[in-house]
Amino acid sequence: MDNLTKPREQWGSRVGFLLAAVGSAVGLGNIWRFPSRVGAYGGAAYLFIYILIVALIGVTVMLAELTIGRKTQLNPVGAFRALSKKWAVVGYLGVIAGFVILSFYSVVGGWTIGYIVRSLTGAFAGDGVEMFMGLITNPIEPLIWHLVFMACTVGIVFFGVRSGIEKISKILMPALFIMLVLIIIRSLTLPGAGAGVAYYLRPDFSKVTLKTVVSAVGQAFFSLSLGMGAMITYGSYLKKDEDLIKSAAIIPALDTFIAFIAGLAILPAVFALGANPGEGAGLAFITLPGVFNAMPLGGFFGFLFFVLLFFAALTSAISLLEVVTAYTIDQWKWSRQKTTIVMGGVMFFIGVLCSLSYADGFGWLTFRLFGMELPLFDWLADWLGDLLLIVGALLTCIFIGWVWTVKSAAKEITHDGQKPFMLLGFWGFLIKFVCPLALVIVLLNFLKIIQF
Ligand code: TRP
Repeated sequence: MDNLTKPREQWGSRVGFLLAAVGSAVGLGNIWRFPSRVGAYGGAAYLFIYILIVALIGVTVMLAELTIGRKTQLNPVGAFRALSKKWAVVGYLGVIAGFVILSFYSVVGGWTIGYIVRSLTGAFAGDGVEMFMGLITNPIEPLIWHLVFMACTVGIVFFGVRSGIEKISKILMPALFIMLVLIIIRSLTLPGAGAGVAYYLRPDFSKVTLKTVVSAVGQAFFSLSLGMGAMITYGSYLKKDEDLIKSAAIIPALDTFIAFIAGLAILPAVFALGANPGEGAGLAFITLPGVFNAMPLGGFFGFLFFVLLFFAALTSAISLLEVVTAYTIDQWKWSRQKTTIVMGGVMFFIGVLCSLSYADGFGWLTFRLFGMELPLFDWLADWLGDLLLIVGALLTCIFIGWVWTVKSAAKEITHDGQKPFMLLGFWGFLIKFVCPLALVIVLLNFLKIIQF
């Protein structure tokens, strides 16, 4: 197909764009990582810090990314290059991050399918540990689900921005919300649920250290899909008269709201059934299945929960693939159909290696680097992915604040002065000083150069 003569696609409606962007933001990061962190890092105290970080840093960078995208109407590489040639490298980092993150993300998305299938076939049983280990140490089964998940992702992005991404987000996001509310009602009405709410929200400022703040910054970026150009890409399909400021406030607000209420769905149930919430990442795939198995109507709610997790992961995965897709369409002049299949295939292959790095008999996929020995999965999920996001976000802030300048950004945001931007001075201050400083501290801590 000749995409040179086709005009660039645009979102069909404002609501469609917002649901797609919230769909990108709301993902695995919200449903399992956030609640377990709030519980572990000081309850309401952590929540308070997290909200502050989202409001100050998250919203600031969100507006920055959307602005670059809408200004240039291009993928991240093309966008940075259009504004300043040398800075195209930030776009490339984003495209690479897309490959890295989607590769392992799709494996986890695959696990949700494996769990949905188990809940349908009655194999959803036991305490969760066995079920999870049985799944991930098997070399073949997770690969099948990973393939199905990647095929769903490719299948949606294949159809484009409006008939693929926007259409599916308009269905899956409201469905996700309804399912979440049902699970919250179930969870809060279990006898003994109050202890979970208390654990989730009791403020414990003694647990708050600089380390907590650093972890909250990392969580905020991942959760808001910032730092790799996903929001640049989604912003590039916006019409010129769209209100960027409002969008940059709504998307983080909804993302944080859903992360917050995911905790209300999960922790009361965990407490009511006497399980241990301090499971971190294992909360969703190990603790919760056991919890569901022990509650009345648990089979149904277990099914509902993993469908919810699948929807959340899918609408995030499509945004990751769209970054790479937009890049190859704009820069390599590939057709959307070709790029989704080829690039989806490459990511599937990297994901296969990630998945196998947990399986029995693939010891060579666990290796030592920088004094740490980790399976490939963890290298990509906990190390390289995060590193790329932090560096990407840092460079984006420096670029806007110091190279492209706040003034040029303001011109785009206010549509040449036609729309008011009352907090412009404050935003400029945040993007020039506060965000880069915070991100440098996070980066140095991440690289273990400074530790708390
Ligand atoms: N925000 C998603 C989550 O919370 C993950 C995600 C999707 C993402 N697209 C991204 C993270 C782009 C960083 C960058 O699970």
